[in-house]
Amino acid sequence: MTKHVGILTAGGDCPGLNAAIRAIGKGAMNTDMRVIGFRDGFRGLMENRTVPLEGESMIGLLTLGGTILGTSRDKPHKMPVDGTLVDMTDVIVDNYHRQHLDALVCIGGGGTQKNAYRLAQKGLNIITLPKTIDNDVAMTDITFGYDTALSIATEAIDRLHSTAHSHHRIIVVEIMGHKAGWLGLGAGLASGADVILIPEIPYDIQLVANAIYKRVQRGRNFSIVAVSEGALSLEEHKILSALLNKKEKAKAEDDKKLMRQVTTELAEFEEKRTNHTLNLARTLEKLTGLEARLTILGHLQRGGTPSAADRVLSTKLGTACIRLIEEGIFGVMIAVQGRKVVTVPLEEVVNKRKVVPLNHDWIESARSVGTCLGDCK
Ligand code: F6P
Repeated sequence: MTKHVGILTAGGDCPGLNAAIRAIGKGAMNTDMRVIGFRDGFRGLMENRTVPLEGESMIGLLTLGGTILGTSRDKPHKMPVDGTLVDMTDVIVDNYHRQHLDALVCIGGGGTQKNAYRLAQKGLNIITLPKTIDNDVAMTDITFGYDTALSIATEAIDRLHSTAHSHHRIIVVEIMGHKAGWLGLGAGLASGADVILIPEIPYDIQLVANAIYKRVQRGRNFSIVAVSEGALSLEEHKILSALLNKKEKAKAEDDKKLMRQVTTELAEFEEKRTNHTLNLARTLEKLTGLEARLTILGHLQRGGTPSAADRVLSTKLGTACIRLIEEGIFGVMIAVQGRKVVTVPLEEVVNKRKVVPLNHDWIESARSVGTCLGDCK
């Protein structure tokens, strides 16, 4: 009997999404599955906006950046409708059945895993694929999109080296990664950044300045400072930890007033950090006497064609997805652990973030080649 499969891509786009869609679409052509895509993530599922994913539409996707389906950060249970957030989960469940779906494949990062899990709890047959340039999805060694972004950020820092060197400047380069340091650390290590600041290691600005100054004393009057967007100074880390503890307390005690208060405080904290890399550059300028410039790599890191490694990963995960649907295995994320493709129950994936462990060998290697990580151990 023909199986009907839906696919959606949600959260921030990344290279490799189309390669994964192609792997599922092409893989399905060798079976009696019919595949449709929902446009713009969970929003398209709520609005029943679909596109057939078969035949000609599967051509030319392997190398294409972004997602042909479009994406959004809208959540089923908090969907913006006429200016307010509405729980549209029931509409989504109805649409799943209206489309006679046997399975829904949700491709996304940490947030998407959570939203997909909620739908699995409503009885839908869900399979997820982990994608994000941040590489922070729990229970998988790697997410697709990361390898491409790593190359883009590395090449950008390589190019910043020659201009920093020529002008005897500090160049602070801001790298994406949300609250994890995988991209900043990987790109910083690959490009030989002199300082790498990641969220996992709160930094002391004076120690960073000292490290730059020591380079000057050795005749190296320029420095590259690779900063993850989520990197925190010691002071910021202290404030944030206190706020997060307060949030946990509000949750545990179901204290709605405290929760509202802490939500506002967290928003204010983030607001204050809007220009934190610019401020970092200015402070380093003052502390070292060297001129400093800031480069924010931003969405460049998410654009364009996927690397060979990401194409292989997306294809591997997409084709594994077809096998799982045939076997009737649902409620899982398809992950990579070691060299193996495995399935992980969604409840083991959600509400966790994979950050860089402090004993990770990349951290040890960075220290070993003399890179300052903000604590300058
Ligand atoms: O999750 C991917 C990511 O690129 C993060 O690194 C970054 O913090 C965020 O998305 C940016 O989101 P947006 O594209 O919505 O500004």
